[in-house]
Amino acid sequence: MEVVICPDAAEVARLAAAKVARVARDRGPDPVIGVATGSSPVALYEQLSAMVRAGRLDLSTAHAFALDEYVGLPVGHPESYAEVIGRTVTEPLGLDPARVHVPDGAASDLEAAAAAYEQAILDAGGVDIQILGIGANGHIGFNEPTSSLASRTRIKTLTARTRFDNARFFASAGEVPTHCLTQGLGTIMAAREVLLVAQGQAKADAVAAVVEGPVTAMVPGSVLQLHQHATVIIDPDAAGALTLADYYRETYERKPAWQRYSKGI
Ligand code: GLP
Repeated sequence: MEVVICPDAAEVARLAAAKVARVARDRGPDPVIGVATGSSPVALYEQLSAMVRAGRLDLSTAHAFALDEYVGLPVGHPESYAEVIGRTVTEPLGLDPARVHVPDGAASDLEAAAAAYEQAILDAGGVDIQILGIGANGHIGFNEPTSSLASRTRIKTLTARTRFDNARFFASAGEVPTHCLTQGLGTIMAAREVLLVAQGQAKADAVAAVVEGPVTAMVPGSVLQLHQHATVIIDPDAAGALTLADYYRETYERKPAWQRYSKGI
């Protein structure tokens, strides 16, 4: 696992976008990008959008797969992840809406929708780079604590903590759905590269548990320790509980120029 501690949140977005852009260019013409909702990757999407607008990156033939979706929200609900991805990813990054996929949380047969989602990822050739945020309880996607480390796309019940954290997007806490469809940890682990971004002190404990704690279903993101190409890009606040912060900084500073992400900008 590579841990990059940036001087600030703006640099997190810049470096992370450079990494995504490099993978997208290398895998062209139709890279498969795994996209996450939540506030963590928003600035990263803005950076990618700026590259697209400047003509330095073309994602018009890329495929995108979202991690998860609420179950029970009406189609078109502004906080459904289908709508959020449309607003924050599809449109600003110039993606073809027909190539952007979000699990169908409104399906009458949710198990069939989950299986179809797994198949769609396979049909696209698998995810080249999966963008991830981290929940305060260590979840990735909506894989809550005790999720199977081998899980695939399926229905999950959200924890009270996650519903509380996400209540800010709804008029009241009671409106936050109780269930979701989420890619499993096994699905996420099948991506060829994974890139986790986190900012702020509220994420410090989760980041430390993911990077330096034991691999455990109690901290679902810790499964990333088993991934061959996992990168964690964070700001100093999110790095606040890491024991080996100095080592990660030194490692990045000593990186040869050809390995630096800024090369992709
Ligand atoms: C949500 C999403 C996750 C996201 C997490 C953190 O529950 N399902 O994919 O990483 O929350 O969100 P934020 O980035 O807003 O802190």
